[in-house]
Amino acid sequence: MFTIENQVTGKVFRTDGDSAILDDALIHGLNFPYGCQKGFCGKCKATIIEGEVGYEGGIPNGITPEEVADGMALLCQCRAKSDVALVIDELNSVADIEVRTLPCKVQSIERLNHDVTQIFLKIPNAESLQYLAGQYIDLIHPDFEPRAFSIANAPGNDGLIDLHVRLIEGGKFTNFIFNQLREKSLLQLEGPKGDFFFREDSKKPVILMAGGTGFAPIKSIVEHAIATKLDRSIYIYWGVRNEVDLYMDLPQQWANENDNIHFVPVLSQSNEDWQGRKGFVHKSILRDFEDLTGYEIYACGPPEMVKSAAKSFVEQGMIQDNFFSDAFVFAFTGKK
Ligand SMILES: Cc1cc2nc3c(=O)[nH]c(=O)nc-3n(C[C@H](O)[C@H](O)[C@H](O)COP(=O)(O)OP(=O)(O)OC[C@H]3O[C@@H](n4cnc5c(N)ncnc54)[C@H](O)[C@@H]3O)c2cc1C
Ligand code: FES
Repeated sequence: MFTIENQVTGKVFRTDGDSAILDDALIHGLNFPYGCQKGFCGKCKATIIEGEVGYEGGIPNGITPEEVADGMALLCQCRAKSDVALVIDELNSVADIEVRTLPCKVQSIERLNHDVTQIFLKIPNAESLQYLAGQYIDLIHPDFEPRAFSIANAPGNDGLIDLHVRLIEGGKFTNFIFNQLREKSLLQLEGPKGDFFFREDSKKPVILMAGGTGFAPIKSIVEHAIATKLDRSIYIYWGVRNEVDLYMDLPQQWANENDNIHFVPVLSQSNEDWQGRKGFVHKSILRDFEDLTGYEIYACGPPEMVKSAAKSFVEQGMIQDNFFSDAFVFAFTGKK
């Protein structure tokens, strides 16, 4: 095994030298830039400061022999031959990321409860979608206007996009998803979009507040935090109506397995058996954190929830610049 260090961020990961350095960087949750992953576009170019890398099958087209002689390398193609110290700017802002329109196929579709369906979309092997944990895509179908859905899995390079879709009563597109979309159905996606993404350059403890399927981007953020071994404290609050709406056990598992992760589910319409928190989810946060000055807060879900949370968090010391939110406003313009 070899150690790879990015001297720009100080982040370190291990590789067995059998896969491309980029593949292992992405598996370890590092946001290295990339495009084609085929050695053509040059987007994954890095400078090798120390150590040796090699290419199987010769120098790829996306790098010149002069650049190789100057110590540069295409990380999507090269493999480590020793410990390596390199320099590459990791993505930390949406401005660095290209918005793409890509075909995708439904790999699986599964009901998680009475009104939430999980869809895994597969993008073609020859393509890639780079995004930051927390961002969303627009789903495109010729019969409908585009509809926004948050990406629920952490950035990686398996070409899979996890979506959690709540059925909207009378909603055209979500009814189509629940009643007509099948495995192997074809769609298009456009993305990544949005400035709701996890800020990795901060050291502050993090409060993640989700309402309903607002859990989707929170899941992406936490999976990314776990993959990158983030040691900041993470407090997850998930607000839903009833226990059945907590459609995944994952947050409790994360809390059981990671000392820095804490989970509080909050039900707004609990029955008598429920022993946990009740009421509005943001009120639970206000109760637990008397002073929110030192925290970074991410909130995602219904617009009313996000709005009232933002207002009362500021009254309890939250600094506006430390608040990030995605309100699930409706895309529908009345046409289709
Ligand atoms: C950035 C962003 C990310 C999103 N991520 C997700 C996600 O991960 N999972 C998810 O389930 N949803 C998400 N949404 C909401 C999702 O886009 C809408 O629920 C969806 O567009 C509804 O489409 P529809 O065709 O079924 O409803 P429409 O036919 O467009 O609307 C039908 C009726 O339902 C109302 N309506 C529409 N959407 C909602 C809603 N969300 N809540 C309550 N009433 C609504 C409309 O006002 C209209 O009266 C996100 C929205 C945004 C803006
Ligand atoms: S990602 Fe295009 S050359 Fe590496």
